[in-house]
Amino acid sequence: CGIVGYFGKRKAADILVDGLRRLEYRGYDSAGVACLYDGRIDVVKNPGKIADLRTKVFTQPSETISSSHLGIGHTRWATHGPPNEINAHPHVDASGRFALVHNGIIENYKDIRKVLEQQGITCVSDTDSEVLVQLVAFLYKGNLEDAVSEALQQVKGTYGIVVITDHEPDKLVVARCGSPIVIGLGRDETLVASDASAIIPHTRDAVYLEDFDMAVITDQGMEMCNVHRAPVSREVTAMDWDEGAAEKGEFEHFMLKEMFEQPQAIRNTIRGRLDFEMGTAVLSGLDFSERDAAQINRVLVVGCGTSMHAGMVGEYAIEEMAGVNAEVEQAAEFRYRNPIITPNDLVIAISQSGETADTLAAVREARQKGALVAGICNVVGSTIARETGRGVYLHAGPEIGVASTKAFTCQVSVMLMMALKIARTRRLAGHAGTQFARWIQRMPELVEQVLKQNDVIKAVARKYAKCDHAFFIGRGYLFPVALEGALKLKEISYVHAEGYHAAELKHGPIALLEENTPVIALLNNIPGKDKTMGNAEECKARNAPVIAVVSEGDEAVAEGFDDVIVVPDCPPAICPIPTVVALQLLAYHIAAARGCEIDQPRNLAKSVTVE
Ligand code: G6P
Repeated sequence: CGIVGYFGKRKAADILVDGLRRLEYRGYDSAGVACLYDGRIDVVKNPGKIADLRTKVFTQPSETISSSHLGIGHTRWATHGPPNEINAHPHVDASGRFALVHNGIIENYKDIRKVLEQQGITCVSDTDSEVLVQLVAFLYKGNLEDAVSEALQQVKGTYGIVVITDHEPDKLVVARCGSPIVIGLGRDETLVASDASAIIPHTRDAVYLEDFDMAVITDQGMEMCNVHRAPVSREVTAMDWDEGAAEKGEFEHFMLKEMFEQPQAIRNTIRGRLDFEMGTAVLSGLDFSERDAAQINRVLVVGCGTSMHAGMVGEYAIEEMAGVNAEVEQAAEFRYRNPIITPNDLVIAISQSGETADTLAAVREARQKGALVAGICNVVGSTIARETGRGVYLHAGPEIGVASTKAFTCQVSVMLMMALKIARTRRLAGHAGTQFARWIQRMPELVEQVLKQNDVIKAVARKYAKCDHAFFIGRGYLFPVALEGALKLKEISYVHAEGYHAAELKHGPIALLEENTPVIALLNNIPGKDKTMGNAEECKARNAPVIAVVSEGDEAVAEGFDDVIVVPDCPPAICPIPTVVALQLLAYHIAAARGCEIDQPRNLAKSVTVE
């Protein structure tokens, strides 16, 4: 799941282990490094945490480890085979002279393994990745990039790889197809990583590889070609993320820090994008004119996880405000169901990382079918941002906590601005547009009001920290918020949580209610509130405790329920923003009370680059 590589004047092991620590947030279950020195490759791997790997690497290190200036490292998120030492990367070939780290999935690894076996080469791990290093070693005839290129032409699937060999001790060979790779060009050193955060402390000059690119890094510098060995050239871009943004500072967890960053993050997202005079949004990255916007027949939003939930809020807003048919679809389903797309469809791909494999596949399908495609990404220069070619960046800053928080509120902010922009080319009047823009501008302040209640929410969380199950219910704009609240809780606290449309609960899930199963009812003052209140009463009547989330000034609604969380009163389209922040805090404090590892929840990855 995370890759680092180093070649330069400094000690490779230090840079590699530090780089892996910076990639920890992506989620992993084992890690390892391989260092090359004086014709020898030494590998140290470990299931579990980077801190344990660090101890293993630096307690009585071999001469190779302590003297090496070239090496590779990896954090693994298991796909094929359990997280143990053998399956951890780097993988080494049978001769011990080649080492490789790999992100992605080699789909035809069984076939390749069979061919290798016929040649007397036996793989020792359960992984799909190992076949690659064995294949490279088998094909090697004196030039590493030739062998890598030949091997990759036999591979089906996705990869981001870095390979080294002691036959050519001053060389790293890097390649990508579907799994991101960025190369950092420092002074007297070159770094490779799957994610800019491992590189930022060392250099700001970066080259992002595109699919099928190969880079050969030697003491002479870097050369680029494609996997067929034809030369390609890529621009050097400057990474603009602040290094401090990837540190926790005074906060106990990245997630807590990022929740508290939301007012500023939303300000950054909306800065310069609201036109109060015209009552619209100015989204310059969406290079289509008002006239083009007026032609849009249908909006399809694709995304995964939290990003998909943000898309749902957008779906409601676009339909309600612009009167344009809008639908959200799970990105993973999109391309396999052969969707009907016309040139007047706008397909919006939402992805914090810009690298999610399912969302990327949906983007490619939509482009293939001739739709107008736009991206909403946080990571600048990410694959989805590049492939969509038009879109809106969140400018939320790096999100490190695996459970997405500030990306969600910023994604919703963008969706609301898009809805406003499209709506103003249609039915929405100027004064109504201006009014809505003013509400968007107030969102950071609404979030601040919720954050001030951190202690109140913490006290509620403590009360329910021991529950095994929880339900979140809402309707209208609060339905996606119920889904997102439940997702946050299950991701970080491992409490089984379900988000349901308030009306749907009685069609089955109500059978699961009992006195230890809290129901979080979103009773904000928006249309449908009375109905949701009725649904919450139905839960109460079945002995389930109800935590009522209500609008300020409307506290009476909570009477008779067990606990109450008050959020600012605001129009329906705006209310997902303050409400979700309350649910993020609730999930966080439940997870904290349960002693969970909040920033790196078990089994999860921050960015899922496999389908
Ligand atoms: C993973 C993360 C989620 C995230 C989803 C989509 O599952 O754990 O937090 O919502 O991927 O990621 P994206 O980067 O595309 O927004």
